[in-house]
Amino acid sequence: MLVDEVRALLQPERGGVFVDCTVGLGGHARMLLEHGASRLIGIDRDTDALALARDTLAPFGDRVALVHADYREIAAVLAAQGVGEVAGLLADLGVSSLQLDAEGRGFSFRRDEPLDMRMDRSRGETAAEWIGRVDERELADVIYRFGEERRSRQVARAIVAARQHGRIETTGRLGEIVRRAVAARTRQRIDPATRTFQALRIWVNRELDGLDSFIGSAVASLQGEGPAARTVRKGVEGRGRIAVIAFHSLEDRVVKHTFRALSKGDDAQLTVLTKHPVIASDAEAAANPRARSAKLRAAVRV
Ligand SMILES: C[S@@+](CC[C@H](N)C(=O)[O-])C[C@H]1O[C@@H](n2cnc3c(N)ncnc32)[C@H](O)[C@@H]1O
Repeated sequence: MLVDEVRALLQPERGGVFVDCTVGLGGHARMLLEHGASRLIGIDRDTDALALARDTLAPFGDRVALVHADYREIAAVLAAQGVGEVAGLLADLGVSSLQLDAEGRGFSFRRDEPLDMRMDRSRGETAAEWIGRVDERELADVIYRFGEERRSRQVARAIVAARQHGRIETTGRLGEIVRRAVAARTRQRIDPATRTFQALRIWVNRELDGLDSFIGSAVASLQGEGPAARTVRKGVEGRGRIAVIAFHSLEDRVVKHTFRALSKGDDAQLTVLTKHPVIASDAEAAANPRARSAKLRAAVRV
């Protein structure tokens, strides 16, 4: 997604170490390696994604290191890889098409399957476990905040009422409960369960927690004007660059504000390269509906 746009902003032709914090299926990582990145560190919290990325990136041999971690652990990952400074860093946030389409992960209300929703199945609570124990008010808050669902209270009430008759273990059952709670009163273009599923996914994966401090650590790892920048190919700007793709307004707001905060004052660390977020071309949006909500922002280390 937005591959040409990311390439133009990150300039992999400068060479040096690039980090893909959400390597996913490896599409962006391959582009970075094909266009000059000397080395690529790919991070993902989903082991299924890493297995696919390993295949996609096999032709690049030992120029690639793939790491199972949360990107919020970036400082430790880079230290363990022996990387001091980074030429470019990408975070393509959110879920991958693999996660949405794969069976048995519980992200989609379009199929009936166990209600898991964890990107990293080696840790944390599943969506089913959480909605089985949470109180109604907290549930309504999460659905309102992360799903921007105006009928969050009705949805929370319906979920709590339904679980008296047995645990809600599947996407099918949850979808039905939510649709019944909201659909009667509204005619919507999207499935009425969309917002609640989004909210639960964001909550289960703590997607917005620490996004700002992650960006701070990522920026701190970017090379400045020091020796590392001078080893980069002659005649090109060596300073490190960061690009972040967000998929919903809550995420994009954090990216925008964090970039802005880091580019202000005497100790500014960044210059923002995208006054307005870069969005998908009409052709890409037509070919891939998910691209319609993608917003790309980028900045360069000062
Ligand atoms: C939109 S996809 C990335 C797709 C990738 N750019 C590509 O070209 O295939 C997002 C990926 O980020 C991963 N992810 C989400 N949150 C993460 C986190 N906190 N730490 C590490 N990986 C994360 C997901 O597991 C998913 O594979």
